[in-house]
Amino acid sequence: MRKPFVAGNWKMNTDSHSSVDMAKRIALGSLEIASHSVTVAVCPPFVYLQTVAKALSASSIAVCAQDVYYESKGAFTGEVSAAMLKDIGCTYVLCGHSERRHVIGETDELINKKVAAAISGGLLPILCVGELLSERKALQTSAVVSRQIKNGLAGLSAEKVSAVTIAYEPVWAIGTGLTATPQQAQEAHDLIRKLLAGMYNGKLAEEIRILYGGSARPDNAEELMAQDDVDGLLVGGASLKAEDFLAIIRAAA
Ligand code: 13P
Repeated sequence: MRKPFVAGNWKMNTDSHSSVDMAKRIALGSLEIASHSVTVAVCPPFVYLQTVAKALSASSIAVCAQDVYYESKGAFTGEVSAAMLKDIGCTYVLCGHSERRHVIGETDELINKKVAAAISGGLLPILCVGELLSERKALQTSAVVSRQIKNGLAGLSAEKVSAVTIAYEPVWAIGTGLTATPQQAQEAHDLIRKLLAGMYNGKLAEEIRILYGGSARPDNAEELMAQDDVDGLLVGGASLKAEDFLAIIRAAA
């Protein structure tokens, strides 16, 4: 049985006060939800990671960075290493979020280095994949997602990949209000699980968690989570309201 996993990606939102305030409200609100029944993480901007981690230190809520650099230290102005993130209390890190792929221009090769560095540095990467609308229309979803998974995990042993969570986030569903239907999500997740079984083994594929992201909200969380291969949700906009995020956690638990 895979434990449900709900992560809130705050993207480039909040400030020094509201990030801590929201973390505290989520921690308080999630007290009634048994931590053994759902994994919960929040992904604040880099500059608020440490204060949010402190605010959550007595709770079961994990802290996830939105990005990491693959080198361990040195002259890489503006970058942040896995060791630094671990040092301030991060457990997870997003790698290859669609906004980093399509706005910042990250390639599969760079994302692969980040996933590898995250694992070596003791973090648990959440590898994000997903097709553009034009790719879905051109019936390329399977080819694109397969390429992103294969390249993103290239060179990693099954043991290392067991530290990874996958997030399927169709780009056309992110921030658009256009959620994938539960069937579309299930189809993509099933494809990813089968791909992982072929690349590694059936046990790993059965155990790895695959989250759905893209306009997940309190009113669609339950039907998405009801799909066999949807193990959790990576929530953007709706994670910025503590009440909505808590409602999604409850739906997933
Ligand atoms: P939205 O929930 O705002 O569509 O964002 C999804 C996302 O990108 C989470 O990483």
